[in-house]
Amino acid sequence: MAKFTFVKNNQTTNLHTLKEQQMKTIRTFEDYREAYDHSTRDPEGFWEEIAQEYQWQQPWDKVLDWNFDEPSIKWYSGAKLNITENMLDRHLKERGNKLALIWEPNDPKEKFVRLTYKELHEQVCRFANVLKKNGVSKGDRVCIYMPMIPELAVAVIACARIGAVHSVVFAGFSAHALADRINDAQCKLVITSDGLFRGAKEIPVKRVVDEALESCECVERVIVKERVGWLPNMVEDRDVWWDDEIKEADRDCPPEPMDAEDMLFILYTSGSTGKPKGVVHTCGGYMVYTGYTFRNVFDYRESDIYWCTADIGWITGHSYIVYGPLLNGATTMMFEGVPTWPDPGRFWQVVDKYGVNQFYTAPTAIRSLMAHKIDHVLSYSLDSLRVIGSVGEPINAEAWNWYHIHVGKERCPLVDTWWQTETGGVMISGIGNATPLKPTFAGYPMPGVQPVLLDGDGNEIQEDDVEGYLAIKHPWPSMLRTTYGDHERCQKTYFSAFKGYYFTGDGARRDKDGMYRIIGRVDDVINVSGHRFGTAEIENAINQNEKVVESAVVGYPHPIKGQGIYAYVICQDGGADEEILKAEITETVVEEIGKIARPEKIQFVRGLPKTRSGKIMRRILRKVAEGEISNLGDTSTLLDPKVVEEIISGADHVE
Ligand code: WT7
Repeated sequence: MAKFTFVKNNQTTNLHTLKEQQMKTIRTFEDYREAYDHSTRDPEGFWEEIAQEYQWQQPWDKVLDWNFDEPSIKWYSGAKLNITENMLDRHLKERGNKLALIWEPNDPKEKFVRLTYKELHEQVCRFANVLKKNGVSKGDRVCIYMPMIPELAVAVIACARIGAVHSVVFAGFSAHALADRINDAQCKLVITSDGLFRGAKEIPVKRVVDEALESCECVERVIVKERVGWLPNMVEDRDVWWDDEIKEADRDCPPEPMDAEDMLFILYTSGSTGKPKGVVHTCGGYMVYTGYTFRNVFDYRESDIYWCTADIGWITGHSYIVYGPLLNGATTMMFEGVPTWPDPGRFWQVVDKYGVNQFYTAPTAIRSLMAHKIDHVLSYSLDSLRVIGSVGEPINAEAWNWYHIHVGKERCPLVDTWWQTETGGVMISGIGNATPLKPTFAGYPMPGVQPVLLDGDGNEIQEDDVEGYLAIKHPWPSMLRTTYGDHERCQKTYFSAFKGYYFTGDGARRDKDGMYRIIGRVDDVINVSGHRFGTAEIENAINQNEKVVESAVVGYPHPIKGQGIYAYVICQDGGADEEILKAEITETVVEEIGKIARPEKIQFVRGLPKTRSGKIMRRILRKVAEGEISNLGDTSTLLDPKVVEEIISGADHVE
């Protein structure tokens, strides 16, 4: 296996930069309390000081301007910067030969890739020139649909270099879902690969792009990186090869001056209604916040090797594989593979191979590994680990303990980081060794974050040891600014449920020590293996099948995925075989959204429980899916109570 041995190179440190950063680094609970106190007493002063560690091409006139009604949020207005100058150029003198990126391929037999800051800088500049040559300029939207290969990171940073807005779409979404996102953002160019490796599978990525582009008129160019060595169909005058283009590109590309509030990227995410929306993040605030939270949450030190197992197609990968780590001059890893291939020891083999110091993954990955023999973990030393992290969904006590004991050896703090695509960075979390740990609790808010628990009427609950709707009272630098092309939707979704607050969609508990535990979504959003889906989005997909009359989807507790998708479907009569029908409906969902949204369970029903006004009572469907039929609550407002009995008798019970 370890045919290619990895040797850490000599990493230099710059005392001056380090000292400056240490002033804004949280090492003890006392430091945390001081920083938190400062950030609430004087938010603008606090974030002004932190912003000063970066290179700005022009200073700001005002640190913060805001109201949550419109909403209108502006951080560092008047300032000019380019985030990539802070991720790359700023480090060249002191860290030019330090590793910026380590890439571990899907197959452990294939050679890894290492890029120093100098090398990454050069690749980014070259590819930025390729983008320009292919007609992309500041403000244009570029869609990136790629596997986890180094070129994905290069493409993201190259967009930011020239002020193009990237919209990364996770390469597991279907052609249909991809087309929707490309059209919504009116992307001019798509960057992709011929195919991708995932465990033992090979997937034809370019074919998905070709299919999507049949319905996207806005796309003028496609740049294709070779990964699996297939020969895809290349459309004349539209498709070009990455390798041909970059060969000829100049290595000089000055960073485009950007306003602090210029768009940096769009990332699509699901909500409780309608199609996925494009969450918009801007340059200045996102930089300051992701840089600050990365360093503190993971207690990153100069020569550490940091590994986040997420895909760059999600916000976790944006903020904590690419932006946050590189802003700190860190060494960040990218992993192309999956936790269980070639065997369930893959993560731990990689940790030992590189001497990973910080390891950040999702509860669903932990739960899938817990199901295998413990020897897969115990046969590796894991001595290098100092901090381990969790993200994406609530972590249950069993998974928390297994992770803490077997991976963290009860020696590493386990930081449970609660945040969202919309928040841009970690909001409530443990901070390295500084804050106390409590299993299944995310913990305390990050400095600058002012969470509140609200009751149903929107009143702040002041006491502790209570549950409520989790909302945020004051802006933080990396919060979303709008939803692309539809500001009203942003206002309605996040700022109208409780006036004067950003509403997260989550419920939470605060204990007597003031620590937060996230309970989960309180809206119609399902979290499957850390991926968000709206029930309406999945229902719309199911309803595309011509045999389907109506459907209703709910989430139910799933031992590995956290939540599974349970679909109640009314079909036209016709006596079709149920198993065939189920397979067809599943196929429709795969076509409309992607494999990640496949329903676990489909139950055919003759009617859905509706109120007299025609509203589906999902509460009842949820209880049935959970197998909790003894406690269905009030069903007296139902139009036809008999429907419920029928549904119960046909339920696909979850034991
Ligand atoms: C939703 C956001 C931000 C990272 C990836 C997910 C849930 C996220 C936690 C956590 C409990 C969590 C919430 C949130 N969530 N992290 N540590 N503990 N729940 O981003 O797709 O935007 O989903 O994921 O319900 O609202 P996302």
